[in-house]
Amino acid sequence: MTYEVTVEPTGDVIEVEEDQTILDAALRQGVWLPFACGHGTCGTCKVTVTDGDADVGEASPFALMESERDEGVVLACCAKPESDLTIEADIDVDPDFAGHPVNDYVGTVTEIRDLSPTIKGLFFELDGEMEFQAGQYINLHIPGVEGTRAFSIANKPSDSNTLELHVRLVPEGAGTTYLHNELQVGDTLDVSGPYGQFFTRKSDEQDAIFIAGGSGLSSPQSMIKELLEEGDQRKMYLFQGARNVAELYNREIFEALAEEHENFFYIPALNAPEDADNWEGFTGFVHEAAQDYFDNKFSGHKAYLCGPPPMIDAAITALMQGRLFERDIHMERFVTAA
Ligand code: FES
Repeated sequence: MTYEVTVEPTGDVIEVEEDQTILDAALRQGVWLPFACGHGTCGTCKVTVTDGDADVGEASPFALMESERDEGVVLACCAKPESDLTIEADIDVDPDFAGHPVNDYVGTVTEIRDLSPTIKGLFFELDGEMEFQAGQYINLHIPGVEGTRAFSIANKPSDSNTLELHVRLVPEGAGTTYLHNELQVGDTLDVSGPYGQFFTRKSDEQDAIFIAGGSGLSSPQSMIKELLEEGDQRKMYLFQGARNVAELYNREIFEALAEEHENFFYIPALNAPEDADNWEGFTGFVHEAAQDYFDNKFSGHKAYLCGPPPMIDAAITALMQGRLFERDIHMERFVTAA
């Protein structure tokens, strides 16, 4: 059984299978609805059913209160239609958002590379071309592991039938332990994507500051490689933070890009270099490297932050103290992939 769901105010109509959530159907049909957690706990995907009936599904009582349920509010990531529906959504689409539809793919592992003592690079060939925007992520289905794990795409969009992921081993995390210890070249995994609202805003042409920590390098890697491949002339600065030289992975890639392109600058920062006397780069946290480089004056730039929450929080504070508006800061916090 398939139901028709009309999304207001845009008037888009989507087909939703019985047993499919409204959000899943919308994303697969290229219709944007706001969402974040994807599983009923954050409340970002609230929509109001103005006509028809829907089952609210597994919405948490914190994300969807009783009074809201009485008013016809549902969480699009949990709700399933029980008739044709009309829903009202608060849609504020960024003009740079392409809204590529979500699809399912099978990825065959072509290479597994040790990038650092804790991060592996996984390379896949996909059974189809995935259109995505640099900065977005995919969900990986891992054998024997409940749910999915989200990883940012590290390759550039023009390499659309391959997938490069940077996976940090999370101690006792079932998903990343499997990917580090069990996965072999030739194995296949189910992949769905692309997802996410972290992507390059190309239309404004502002110079771009990228601040990356840990495996959060993946998104900036995709974004920078794409902009440079397209011959984009804005200045781009990549600040890469790590504990020590061994964790500062893919450094040679960015050093080579900085040699090749006058408008790309690479600034690595170590907060605990094992051999401080022989480290010629910045010593300290990555947001401090940016403050030092720009002398605390960031206005006029666009910033893209990708990494663990404490790094993101420190970078936001530093950038805003240095006169960067909140609207010019975009971020991806890495919290989920265990
Ligand atoms: Fe978080 Fe639906 S996306 S509750």
